[in-house]
Amino acid sequence: MKKVLKNSYTKVLQPFRNGSPKTLQSLKPTLTSALFKKYRNDTMVPEKNFKINLELAYHYLKNVPGDIVECGVWKGGMSAALSEVLGNDRKYFLFDSFEGLPAVKPIDGANAKKWQENVTGEYYFDNCKASIDDADETMKKSNCHYQLFKGWFEDTLPGFHPENGIALLRLDADWYDSTLQCLTYLYPKVVTHGMVLIDDYYTWDGCSRAIHHYLSERNSTARIRHVGDVCYIIKTDESE
Ligand SMILES: C[S@@+](CC[C@H](N)C(=O)[O-])C[C@H]1O[C@@H](n2cnc3c(N)ncnc32)[C@H](O)[C@@H]1O
Repeated sequence: MKKVLKNSYTKVLQPFRNGSPKTLQSLKPTLTSALFKKYRNDTMVPEKNFKINLELAYHYLKNVPGDIVECGVWKGGMSAALSEVLGNDRKYFLFDSFEGLPAVKPIDGANAKKWQENVTGEYYFDNCKASIDDADETMKKSNCHYQLFKGWFEDTLPGFHPENGIALLRLDADWYDSTLQCLTYLYPKVVTHGMVLIDDYYTWDGCSRAIHHYLSERNSTARIRHVGDVCYIIKTDESE
């Protein structure tokens, strides 16, 4: 009896233990290194996380049909590299103000306020501002079918209805309102077995608050998993 129970507990708990696959060896390290080299000036995602993003996307999504959406694009390097591992049979939809980040609010936390006030800081990047032409140049290097949407999420996302569903929703919008808007409009469009990659979960309080707020409002059982500092959710029917 004890053994049976132990086995069934193991079976039930296994997918959630440690929240992440032990190894992500599907992509050759030479490929992820080459992609980082190609796009390193077009992304602010650090090398280690950049490679984990690619490995997770490939590992989980190579056989999941659907389009790819990134919210918070900057110069587009992360999306361009993702397209090189996820292929040209899909469309890539990229959303950004291309005017930088909105003003921080108290819900985004003290560190976010400090970061935005420090306009000469090493990682300020002109308040994360890049032009749509920068992103266009980057995406052209990747050879995929893409579309760039310029504007604030609250204006651009409500009218967006991808025909094929979203296989990957990559959230890289830093603040609470921005992240919550992306989840509100796009999470319901993520297909079963699709993935949400959350760039800022460990970095910014506003991002983690938005994720918790959204999931608990829906009474969701979705697990927030991670490999290193890269957080993600795999959407299942049950987790809705
Ligand atoms: C950290 S950067 C994205 C980094 C990018 N993914 C990369 O690979 O380097 C955050 C981006 O989110 C955009 N952003 C944040 N909130 C937004 C909003 N509410 N509407 C539109 N764009 C927004 C900013 O313009 C900025 O380009």
